[in-house]
Amino acid sequence: MFTRLLTLAFGLFLVGGCSARVVTVPPGPLIRVEGQPVSIRCNVTDYGGPREQEFEWKMSRDGKSKINIISTFDLSFSDPSLSNRIASGDISVVRLQDNEVELKVAEAKLQDAGSYICETPSTDTTASGNYEAQVQLTVIPKTLKVSPETPPQVVPEGRDLTLTCNVTRELTYPTYLSVTWSIKKGATSEDILTFGPQGEVTTGSKFTHRYSDGGIRLAPGRNGVFELVISRVMTSDQGTYECNGTEWTYDRGGRWTRIVESKKEMGTVSVTPAGHSLNVKASFYSSPSSTSLLLSPGDSLTLLCSVLEKPDTLTLEVTWLANGREILTMDRSGVVLSNASSSGAPGKQGDATLERTGVGEYRLGVRGVSGEDGGLYACRIRAFVEKGGHSAGGGRWYMVAEKTSTPVTVKVSETKPNFTLSLSVTQKPSRMFEPMELSCSVTDISSLPQEGRLAVSWEHTSLPGKGNANAQHVGSLDGNGNLVSGKPYADKLKSGVLSLSRIQPNTFKLQFLRTQDSDMGQFACTVSSWSVSSQGDLVKTSEYKSSPLTVRWDDKRPALNVVAKTIRGASRGGDTFEMSCAVTPANLGGWLGYRVDVNSQDSENSNTRTVLSLSSDNVVQHTDPDRRDSVGLTKTGPAEFRFRLAGVQLSDRGFYWCNITAVTKLQPEDEWTNVASSESNKIRINFQENGPSFSVDINSDASSVYPWETAKIECSLSVSGSSPKADDLSYEVTWFFTRLRGGEKKTELASIDRFGVIAKIHRNSSSDVSIERRDTHTYLLNLYGTQDSDSGEYHCIATPWYLSTSTGAWTEAKQLTSKRIFLSVKFAVWDSLKLPLLYGAAASLGVGLFSLLLGLVCAHCCCRNTTHTPRSHNKLLNFEMD
Ligand SMILES: *[C@@H]1O[C@H](CO)[C@@H](O)[C@H](O)[C@H]1NC(C)=O
Ligand SMILES: *[C@@H]1O[C@H](CO)[C@@H](O)[C@H](O)[C@H]1NC(C)=O
Ligand SMILES: *[C@@H]1O[C@H](CO)[C@@H](O)[C@H](O)[C@H]1NC(C)=O
Ligand SMILES: *[C@@H]1O[C@H](CO)[C@@H](O)[C@H](O)[C@H]1NC(C)=O
Ligand SMILES: *[C@@H]1O[C@H](CO)[C@@H](O)[C@H](O)[C@H]1NC(C)=O
Ligand SMILES: *[C@@H]1O[C@H](CO)[C@@H](O)[C@H](O)[C@H]1NC(C)=O
Ligand SMILES: *[C@@H]1O[C@H](CO)[C@@H](O)[C@H](O)[C@H]1NC(C)=O
Repeated sequence: MFTRLLTLAFGLFLVGGCSARVVTVPPGPLIRVEGQPVSIRCNVTDYGGPREQEFEWKMSRDGKSKINIISTFDLSFSDPSLSNRIASGDISVVRLQDNEVELKVAEAKLQDAGSYICETPSTDTTASGNYEAQVQLTVIPKTLKVSPETPPQVVPEGRDLTLTCNVTRELTYPTYLSVTWSIKKGATSEDILTFGPQGEVTTGSKFTHRYSDGGIRLAPGRNGVFELVISRVMTSDQGTYECNGTEWTYDRGGRWTRIVESKKEMGTVSVTPAGHSLNVKASFYSSPSSTSLLLSPGDSLTLLCSVLEKPDTLTLEVTWLANGREILTMDRSGVVLSNASSSGAPGKQGDATLERTGVGEYRLGVRGVSGEDGGLYACRIRAFVEKGGHSAGGGRWYMVAEKTSTPVTVKVSETKPNFTLSLSVTQKPSRMFEPMELSCSVTDISSLPQEGRLAVSWEHTSLPGKGNANAQHVGSLDGNGNLVSGKPYADKLKSGVLSLSRIQPNTFKLQFLRTQDSDMGQFACTVSSWSVSSQGDLVKTSEYKSSPLTVRWDDKRPALNVVAKTIRGASRGGDTFEMSCAVTPANLGGWLGYRVDVNSQDSENSNTRTVLSLSSDNVVQHTDPDRRDSVGLTKTGPAEFRFRLAGVQLSDRGFYWCNITAVTKLQPEDEWTNVASSESNKIRINFQENGPSFSVDINSDASSVYPWETAKIECSLSVSGSSPKADDLSYEVTWFFTRLRGGEKKTELASIDRFGVIAKIHRNSSSDVSIERRDTHTYLLNLYGTQDSDSGEYHCIATPWYLSTSTGAWTEAKQLTSKRIFLSVKFAVWDSLKLPLLYGAAASLGVGLFSLLLGLVCAHCCCRNTTHTPRSHNKLLNFEMD
């Protein structure tokens, strides 16, 4: 009460100072959130009295009853219901200045809503103005919710990152929202961007540029969701992202007041550097798996740069390096830049091209490489990301990665191996069919690499008129030693008549086993040197051709000279005759065969027959199978043959000679072909009366016989000369008959062989034959019961056999044919008459009997007057004779 009075006294004093006091609180209503702090300021002006003023805070929930809250000077001022909150400091008053205080509620409660009154006790001399002011406080429940979406944990550099945050509240009073994204790296947190509460955007100081470039942008979120998109993230963008939602109120008087906020951690994002997955590989276009390549000067080099796992956000710059020096670069926009001019290198990079051949594929081509193009080739890529947003044309690029491939090695063979060739004939044929050998030697060889190889190719041009006038490929041995045959020579190479070989490291041979005239002509050899590249391919490094070499030989027609000589002469029958035939070939070479025919003729002008032949394969052919045992023809030397005739007979007399034919074949499977043939001189076999000489004679006891008589025809042989003993002699005798009428055909009647066995030939005739050996030399044919059909000519053929005294073998002498004798069988009267007589007698008897009967009947009956005419037998004999 005392204080009241005191205050009043002060107030009156101040008023007395002629001023009107003004107490001011913020204009309401104030909207605050339950649990959040509330602060209401109150000041006083135009007051009198002491500078420092006192304040009292009261509140009214219903506008009538007031509750004392707190006073700056009266500690017992507060309502007991608030004493706990005041004691705990939940409710306090803070003096800000002499004339201003602030009522603070640390955590507003819903029942704190009401009208708050600030009073100042008067210190004025005269009371004027207002001594209290009031403001409405509304406490609303906390409905602000912040629920961020967890961003991806790992983002590749250059990709976009979207940060989504859902900030909501229940709208019962006009409050506003803002959302702030921030990134925390370690202890420090930086705001990236704030949106709101009035729809404005505020960027963190470090992100102002990126926001203005479009690298950071707000996306219109669905359903009130806020989205922040960071384009093309960089490694510096990694960290823990946070989302801060704030609810605001707009106090009357133009002040934005945060009334509640909520900050949530969104998640930690790590950015993988673009170069991390990016991979680059250099390879040879022709052999992608190999790491080095051997080229010859002038070759083309093609290299491929493959960029693997390139994120599409990256833009590449591709550079090919040779020995670390840049050759060609394809920049980000695809423009190819050459470093040739600036590097000043004398290399031929003017012939180099770089092009993009596919997704992530860049091909380097170098034409006509030379020695200095060898080295290590690598592909370098630089990956760039455009910092700015999509819209920012020509934006800033920054390099996110640089990678260089493992280099591949290009070797260019330094110098061509240099050598000279000498072609020579090491075996020269003097004529056709002889072997020939050509030798192609490599000399003065220089700079042939260790693993270098030589290949040879032979060619041939025939002499004019002797074959193909164009150069023809005979065959080659390639760098691996494989034989490749030329088409026209393929068969000869296959059969081995022709062969190609390498006999010394540096000498090649071409061999003909048997030459032909068409093989004459010009030969040339071409030797090439080869190197093995690192991937195993053979690369030709140089090639030289020999000067042509002409090979020719005597091509006169081949001829044979055959000389026959008597080895053993035959001077007697039964002797053995031997004759040799020697052949000398002329203008003939190589491998030959001979065919020998032994010919004979009885006399100078008679027919020639071939006795015996010997084929080139030494097979004997007999023309007379009967003499098989006694003749022979053998090869007794390389060019000598011997003819042998054993048991020479008189019939063997005549001229004998050889006809020798040289035959050849080019290949074993070929047929023999005649090359030349020649006849020898003739050698005569001639002797007289030596050995038995036989003759045959025929005679009959009568030249005509009567039918049914026996005719005897005798064949008698006679032997002259050295007549063998009777035991050493026998004959084969055969009789023949030739009808006079019925053609000249002779029919064999019967024969007796040399062992005495008789054979009769069945005949139609009723006559029969027998043979009788009278003595050693005489044989008799008996013809029993001759008939007219046996009339004709008879002769016999005899073959004498004798035991040769010279050979001791039974020898067949020449067949002997007798002259012919005529046998006539006389007309057979009885034979002709017997049948007509028989019939006539029978008829006469019949007629006689009939006449007798008739006469008896007539005589018996009425016809007693009969005539009787006797018949003469003689009239029946009247018929024609043959
Ligand atoms: C007093 O308070 C009101 C409202 O808070 C304010 O507008 C005013 O400027 C203050 N006066 C002084 C002198 O501080
Ligand atoms: C945002 O949050 C509110 C409150 O939690 C919820 O009702 C709403 O469905 C959310 N919106 C989306 C898009 O998640
Ligand atoms: C939340 O955002 C508001 C408004 O930007 C800011 O004033 C406040 O400090 C933020 N809170 C935190 C914890 O960062
Ligand atoms: C040329 O190559 C040199 C050395 O590698 C390098 O320093 C230079 O930048 C290159 N110039 C161009 C235009 O690529
Ligand atoms: C090869 O060697 C010979 C003699 O040594 C020389 O005259 C010639 O010029 C050389 N050829 C090459 C291509 O080097
Ligand atoms: C020699 O024999 C051969 C082969 O049988 C034949 O072609 C040639 O005509 C004969 N020579 C003579 C002169 O008969
Ligand atoms: C024997 O006679 C018959 C019939 O007359 C005839 O067919 C046959 O050829 C004859 N035979 C001889 C060997 O004459």
